[in-house]
Amino acid sequence: MTEEIKKIKERMGEDLLILAHHYQSDEIVSLADSVGDSLKLAKTAEANKRAKYIVFCGVHFMAETADILTDEGQRVFLPEHDAGCPMADMADRVSAERCLERLENEFGKDSVLPVTYVNSKAEIKAFCGRLGGTVVTSGNAPRILDWALKQNKLVLFLPDQNLGRNTCVDLGVKLENMAVYNQIHDELYYDCKKEDVRCVLWGGYCHVHHFITDETFQSMRKAHPDYKIIVHPECRYEIACAADGKGSTEYIINQVKNSPSGSKFIIGTEKNLVDRLIKNNPDKDILILDTNSKCRNMNKINTENLYETLLEIEAGNFTRQISVDRLIAKDAVKALDKMLELS
Ligand code: 13P
Ligand code: SF4
Repeated sequence: MTEEIKKIKERMGEDLLILAHHYQSDEIVSLADSVGDSLKLAKTAEANKRAKYIVFCGVHFMAETADILTDEGQRVFLPEHDAGCPMADMADRVSAERCLERLENEFGKDSVLPVTYVNSKAEIKAFCGRLGGTVVTSGNAPRILDWALKQNKLVLFLPDQNLGRNTCVDLGVKLENMAVYNQIHDELYYDCKKEDVRCVLWGGYCHVHHFITDETFQSMRKAHPDYKIIVHPECRYEIACAADGKGSTEYIINQVKNSPSGSKFIIGTEKNLVDRLIKNNPDKDILILDTNSKCRNMNKINTENLYETLLEIEAGNFTRQISVDRLIAKDAVKALDKMLELS
């Protein structure tokens, strides 16, 4: 199938662009035209005006983002429709509106500036765009949240409480000045005076990173005291604080790549990426922080469904196309454009 895919790529030339996230398998990565973190892939999709067909090997929100950022005549495809992101699914428009109403009742009309992690549904990006807010990726979260916190509004950060908390602490916000919104029970928690709340963190999380436990971390630290531990900022606050560094997938790759031969790392993120780091850096010692760190959804993309997608595209069958509703896209693009402008 790999050989057949290569032949189709040759036949389609610049009409076809295959993008792959760093969490994809080696087979998929070897077939992609561009591999990157969410920020790099969003920028690549936006910049490419030639490809008629963009096949996104990643999860649903990434393909949606590419569809929003590309031109009308360009079609974006996801090889497996079921490849979603459970964290993105933890926030929808109805519960975001309900949260906004609650916050405005408590903190005043027009007091809220919503900012969403790119790992979110298009309708959440549109919600942010409508209210003058924006989007962050793990690669630009510090810069963009810094901007948001300076807008003299209460920042509502969706859907990943961990990225929100880790980044806001780095930007000088105290933990006691962050509220948490429980989207399931419509409950708001904070432990300071109302006027001291700086941001509200939506209660979502990524199970791949959130469930790396303190016990796992401490036992790895104890067993390998001379290793540098780097984690993704979707990890819980306690893990992010105890680690020696944190950043996006692209950041993690660069840290390892640019370190001297013989360096030792423990990496806290998705297993496909860590396995590839081990393979590509034979002169360095690399371990995974938690062997359970597997994203089932990223792994739903394989050579078989990529091959089928390409065959369908050649035959003019677009059933795997991801197409964001125009009205939603119109507001979502405002939030995404602001992100690209700020980063
Ligand atoms: P990056 O933006 O760091 O690639 O992360 C995306 C993601 O889904 C991490 O779980
Ligand atoms: Fe979503 Fe987590 Fe998978 Fe990233 S690793 S796509 S955040 S479930």
